[in-house]
Amino acid sequence: MTKKLTDLVRGFLDPIEEEDDAEFKLPLDDSVKLHRPMGTVRRVQHSFKTLKNRRNEAALPAVLPLDDESRALLEIARAERDKAYAQYSGFQVGAALVAESGQVYLGCNIENASYPAGICAERAAFCAAISAGERHFSAIAICGGDDRVPCYPCGICRQVMAEFCTPDFPVILTDGVYPLAGLMPHAFSL
Ligand code: THU
Repeated sequence: MTKKLTDLVRGFLDPIEEEDDAEFKLPLDDSVKLHRPMGTVRRVQHSFKTLKNRRNEAALPAVLPLDDESRALLEIARAERDKAYAQYSGFQVGAALVAESGQVYLGCNIENASYPAGICAERAAFCAAISAGERHFSAIAICGGDDRVPCYPCGICRQVMAEFCTPDFPVILTDGVYPLAGLMPHAFSL
């Protein structure tokens, strides 16, 4: 224990040695050198292979083609997009969320001069639905930007969807229908 602490302290104090070794060796050996004071990260030897460009596509649920119903819901989301208050990014998003009751809840992104106070369209729609007493949902359609590329929901919105929706919940984007499990495979839960 004492030795490890000593090594760690020495790691903080030693000058940074540049190593081009791309391997990580765990458990940490005597090169235990983690962080420099003031947040400077120091290079550490490791044995993790890089996962860059190595996604397991086969494990992701299939994306389904758009049908008439999903296109209609996208149109509703597209109309809602025009209401977005996106003064700062200029990127407008609209969402149309269908509850199991049959009611459709709308949301647009609402930005703020204090940037983190803004909210995404998807979460605005969930807020409207949940505060109306809904808890079970059938689908969501999302339209954002200028329609040239699909507007994939951000990570926080995916986590919110995972709170209320099943893994097969259809997330309707302009290029197809994505089962939620494909967008958020390992959602946090308590
Ligand atoms: N935004 C959404 O409303 N939904 C998303 O899924 C992605 C991002 C908003 C947040 C912000 O107002 C703007 O788009 C640019 O990030």
